[in-house]
Amino acid sequence: MIDIKEILKEYSARFNAEIETLFNDASGPEARVVEAMKYSVMNGGKRLRPYLVYETAGLFGKSFEQSFQAAASLEMLHSYSLIHDDLPAMDNDDLRRGKPTCHKQFDEATAILAGDGLLTYAFEILAKADYSADVKIELIRLLSQGAGAFKGMVAGQMLDLYAEKVTNPENPLELIGHIEEMKTGCLLSYACEAGAVIGGADVQQRKILHDYSRKIGIAFQIADDILDAEGDPQLVGKTLKKDKDQNKLTFVNCYGVEKARRISTDLINQAVEIVSVFGNRGRNLQALAHFIIDRNF
Ligand code: IPE
Ligand code: IPE
Ligand code: MG
Ligand code: MG
Ligand code: MG
Repeated sequence: MIDIKEILKEYSARFNAEIETLFNDASGPEARVVEAMKYSVMNGGKRLRPYLVYETAGLFGKSFEQSFQAAASLEMLHSYSLIHDDLPAMDNDDLRRGKPTCHKQFDEATAILAGDGLLTYAFEILAKADYSADVKIELIRLLSQGAGAFKGMVAGQMLDLYAEKVTNPENPLELIGHIEEMKTGCLLSYACEAGAVIGGADVQQRKILHDYSRKIGIAFQIADDILDAEGDPQLVGKTLKKDKDQNKLTFVNCYGVEKARRISTDLINQAVEIVSVFGNRGRNLQALAHFIIDRNF
């Protein structure tokens, strides 16, 4: 039996030690923004996205070092999305990963700049990475699309805010799927795509990983919504029961926890089946898929 929690913990320890060194260069009064960036990255996230880059690249024999720059770049970008998501103008949250959110710890303007800084730094890391020019361009293309305002994370965040204000959406199921796929699914898909690109996967293998990522992406957000509804605040490290208060359009708010759980379990079973073609090498990805919905943090 694979202990994916332990594997993730070991990976995180190594990843954290490495990513911390990417904040070394700041000096002068402007270093406050770098301090806020570092605070937000180094405060104990699960590192699921970096791990996915590592594990998918690992399918093709790539090492921790070979996946690290893409993994670090993605975690920078993910952390920016959380800082901005927590701002008073968005979800207005005081707690993140069990600690004060960036704008609470620093101030709102610094938090906005820290988000901007992390988003920009993500692309700087990719541009300077040791991959071939072709691989770098492909990673930059995929990340900018996945994080972006047309069909990516920013679009999903816009839709999430829009849906708060809509009382009777015409096709709520479709709208929720769309929100969850874009605001959360796109970066998880990018994580798997990045691993495939670094690993030199062929078209068929890329498609398999993409299909897997789409399933776990939606299931991941459903699990997040279930944790918001009935998680343990101590373990989750966020203020809970906010989705209902803020009238968020989620599967949980629409159909209740039980049905949402069934939907996420179906998605995870499909994801597990999809990567079964990799045989033994895909076992960690299967375990991770189960962890995504079984987690309590
Ligand atoms: C939280 O993501 C935001 C969502 C997309 C639901 P994670 O649950 O991966 O957050 P960290 O990085 O582990 O804190
Ligand atoms: C956030 O979704 C997705 C992002 C793009 C950051 P949520 O708003 O549900 O994430 P949490 O619950 O604040 O982590
Ligand atoms: Mg949000
Ligand atoms: Mg939020
Ligand atoms: Mg949430």
